[in-house]
Amino acid sequence: MENFVRAGLLLQPKQLKFAAYCREADLSGGPKMISTGGGKGSAKTHGVYCQIFADDCQRVPGLKVLILRKILKGAAEQFDDMRRKLLGNLRHEWRAQKGELSFATGSRVIIGHYNDERDIDKYMGIEYDVINLGEATQLPFSRVQGIRGCLRTSKPNWRPRMYLDTNPGGVGHRWYRGMFIVPWLEKRETTTRHVQVTVDDNKFVDSEYKSTLQSYTGWMRKAYLDGDWDIAAGQYFTTFRREVNVVEDFDDSRAVEWFAAFDYGFAHYTVVLLGCRDGDGNIFIVDEHAERLWLPQRHAAAVKAMLARHKIGERKMSVEDLKRFVAGADVFSRQSDGTTIAAQYSKLGISLRCANTDRVNGWAEILQRFGDVEAGIRPTLFIHKRCGRLLETLPALQHDPNRPEDVLKVDCDEDGIGGDDAADVLRYMVATKSRTVTQRKLRGV
Ligand SMILES: Nc1ncnc2c1ncn2[C@@H]1O[C@H](COP(=O)(O)OP(=O)(O)OP(=O)(O)O)[C@@H](O)[C@H]1O
Ligand SMILES: [Mg+2]
Repeated sequence: MENFVRAGLLLQPKQLKFAAYCREADLSGGPKMISTGGGKGSAKTHGVYCQIFADDCQRVPGLKVLILRKILKGAAEQFDDMRRKLLGNLRHEWRAQKGELSFATGSRVIIGHYNDERDIDKYMGIEYDVINLGEATQLPFSRVQGIRGCLRTSKPNWRPRMYLDTNPGGVGHRWYRGMFIVPWLEKRETTTRHVQVTVDDNKFVDSEYKSTLQSYTGWMRKAYLDGDWDIAAGQYFTTFRREVNVVEDFDDSRAVEWFAAFDYGFAHYTVVLLGCRDGDGNIFIVDEHAERLWLPQRHAAAVKAMLARHKIGERKMSVEDLKRFVAGADVFSRQSDGTTIAAQYSKLGISLRCANTDRVNGWAEILQRFGDVEAGIRPTLFIHKRCGRLLETLPALQHDPNRPEDVLKVDCDEDGIGGDDAADVLRYMVATKSRTVTQRKLRGV
């Protein structure tokens, strides 16, 4: 407490709890890995930095600390803000170029950022007395093992330790839950400690940020607002409601822009969805083509017939009326005969463009668009009841237990039952943005 006061830092209760666990790590038999995790904006990172800068680095001379963080949007800037906030009263030197902070005690903190997990290699093979791994659930366990191998000390009065701060979700969710959350829940922590937090543990968060968290739906709300570690279990689109998201009628003249998306399969289904956007930015999935064991010619004819069932003004819709027709990346890769599926379709008058295939962001966009009636969040994505395969697929989708923010991939069985192809098509459609804003402006909409 004296060290924090001296540094002019006022810690909040959960941050103090974390700091107390870090001090427990000084004792033989104390913890070696200390976690703080849960909702977003819950003062985790701030607390960890206070512990490292104001306590560890001040009371132990010559300490060498590695802080490893995933580069999220503006992470470098955020670190700079945080550093200014925390180091006002602490004499230090900051070499931005090297990302190294040093204190009068001779203790040093190396700030490492990683985007790709391979970026971590450059920090490996060196000894550190403390390692703080931020957003730890973004890393697979093998990486964390490697990082842990760099925890070594030559100081007789110091026990090396790791501090971790993170939200639920991500490729590392499962190992993190097993290593920290389960022992904490079952009250049998030995070498680990966990401090569970949500935004309500942070008095310094602005109300606007909290409303942003409250506007999330589905698993994102559970993970980022509630800090819930059980999100990996079960259904993915929990806020999809037939009574709300499924429409029985749609007037084609309401559309301001039409588009389609495609997923190729032979034994699996080939699925094509036709959708549009209205003047208010709502997306309607209006029609579906889903068949298997067909050749491209037959699919192409059926897709054109599907378009012709809809009207642009007084005439039947054709491929040229679509703003875009997107498909997954596999459609553009060369097959053994040197051609691509996309080239075959192009010859049949359907020219395809590669969709945005980022799974996690795509699913998140769909989730947000389904809204959440119970939480009063308005939906902006609607599906016509004639899109049978899509409507059958969506409620069946599960979280990937190894990466809860992703949907578990499933194949259809021999009879074509099950499978996630229709959902992939919806994702391509929703995640691929066009340059609508400027074009709408040009059209004066
Ligand atoms: N004790 C404190 N004193 C002053 N400001 C604080 C304190 N604790 C947290 N804050 C501020 O609250 C905001 C959110 O804190 P922080 O970034 O540590 O949250 P987080 O839980 O790490 O968030 P995320 O889940 O997004 O990583 C920051 O601006 C931080 O500086
Ligand atoms: Mg943080």
